[in-house]
Amino acid sequence: MALTQTQQFQPGMGLTTTKAPFIEVARSRGELYIEQPYELYSEENHEAWRRLYARIQDRWQRYATEKFLEGVSKLCLDPNRVPRLDDVNRFLAPLTGFKAKAVSGYVPAYIFFDCLRRREFPTTITVRDINSLDYLPEPDIFHDIAGHVPMHTDKRFADTLVRFGEAAHTAARLVQEIKDPELQVQRIISITRALARFFWFTIEFGLMRGRNGELKVYGSGLLSSYGEIAHAIESPEVQRYPIQLEWVINQYFEIDHYQPLLFIVDSFDHLFDLVDQLERWMLEGKLNNVAPGEPTMSEEDIRSFLEAVVD
Ligand SMILES: [Fe+2]
Repeated sequence: MALTQTQQFQPGMGLTTTKAPFIEVARSRGELYIEQPYELYSEENHEAWRRLYARIQDRWQRYATEKFLEGVSKLCLDPNRVPRLDDVNRFLAPLTGFKAKAVSGYVPAYIFFDCLRRREFPTTITVRDINSLDYLPEPDIFHDIAGHVPMHTDKRFADTLVRFGEAAHTAARLVQEIKDPELQVQRIISITRALARFFWFTIEFGLMRGRNGELKVYGSGLLSSYGEIAHAIESPEVQRYPIQLEWVINQYFEIDHYQPLLFIVDSFDHLFDLVDQLERWMLEGKLNNVAPGEPTMSEEDIRSFLEAVVD
């Protein structure tokens, strides 16, 4: 006998990354954008958030760019409870127009970038398991809200994300003009790989020169990792270089260990200009044959570019 909605989703039953029936049901129904069912969070979920948030404070003070720290204070995040997206957006939207938008899981590449263009950030609402706070291959609400969203309070950074979404829009337009289906798919894969690598080495794992020349973190993958944020700055084994676009778009990466190679920008103006350059290179054909390797594009990712509305 099928369970009724109320039997399925009891208040406090949990929205844990590895166990969230609400998410499974939404995905099985093909619902990508969802409401955040706040009452489903368990006390354990809130405790996981509390511990994650408490232990990273000192590391943020030490390693994060000041724009991020300003963002954290502007968002007034509750240190003790999983945030409500509506509360976050009440502080965020008046600053840059950005909003966190709850999703049920993986968002195909074009749809993700297109959301950024509209100043919407697809946001995971599940919380990592309290017994594995350190490592998580997929995003959770701590990564998305504590790691990404404070950066979206900065006007120049927010404009850069929008510009990035526009570049993806240009990519979809370019590939949709190609008549040969085989060439079309090859192009989507190459261009999207370049965009994804750029996103990875900047928005997720970027470093920036601070006011006094010291290195600071602005990448969300680092900002939401207690271990890696320190490793990124302190470890002698990490290679850190001034960003070079030609390198980044040809550089593969792996997601299952600390990053051995990181790139440094001078400022968010610099980052914005790099997205402009990326789009120019795309239009000139320079992204048509980037080096093979990670990340791979799924059928869904490819389809999202082919089906994009680009008028
Ligand atoms: Fe992320």
